[in-house]
Amino acid sequence: MDWIEQISREETLLGMGHGQSEETGMGLGWLYYALARVEQPGHVLCIGSWRGFVPIVLARALKDNAGGARLTFVDPSLVDDFWTEAQRVKSWFASFGVDNIDHHCLTTDDFARTEAFQNLPQIGLLFIDGYHTAEQARLDHTAFLPKLTDSAVVLFHDSIRERTSDIYGRERRYIHTVHEYMKELKRDAAYQVMDFPLGSGVTVVRRNSGVARDEP
Ligand SMILES: C[S@@+](CC[C@H](N)C(=O)[O-])C[C@H]1O[C@@H](n2cnc3c(N)ncnc32)[C@H](O)[C@@H]1O
Repeated sequence: MDWIEQISREETLLGMGHGQSEETGMGLGWLYYALARVEQPGHVLCIGSWRGFVPIVLARALKDNAGGARLTFVDPSLVDDFWTEAQRVKSWFASFGVDNIDHHCLTTDDFARTEAFQNLPQIGLLFIDGYHTAEQARLDHTAFLPKLTDSAVVLFHDSIRERTSDIYGRERRYIHTVHEYMKELKRDAAYQVMDFPLGSGVTVVRRNSGVARDEP
């Protein structure tokens, strides 16, 4: 089965704010895939995912780029135990035909203290979809700034509006405020910032100093 059809039929990959539907197909997934094909980002880093929709789409794009690039996925499995067993995680991704994902079951803060973080190659695409407060989005962004290429693209999910979430349980209910950090970046002349308001929305951010690639 075609991989797009496969992920579109897998119910656990739907309904997490990426705007998939019969009309839109992969929804924002088209944008994620296209950016990874157009930008040829080399290494990709992804923070947070419910069941892996974004890592799978981006890892597929890297495979289709055929440059052998890998994706680092950082998620401490705070919602349930889905990401806690390394072999199960590997098999889950393999069931979608991707074998180029390295998962670290850690928060961004803890991952930033590891040797794996020190040894990361330069990152050309960073996808931030962890804990959706402005504070954490800023921390996630800042932690990886020294690792980004000059022209790196950074995507923030759940970034366009305030929303109450009880994904971590009713007693840990919290308000999504990533859009507040986006407002800050929009005021900063160092950045280009564009919202895509499908589903829970995604915002694409790039430093103005990004160097254009030469034509072959
Ligand atoms: C459930 S996802 C949000 C849904 C998401 N929009 C999607 O497409 O799957 C959020 C994930 O972020 C992870 N997370 C929460 N805090 C984090 C942190 N500090 N660092 C890294 N990941 C984090 C959680 O474990 C969770 O799996």
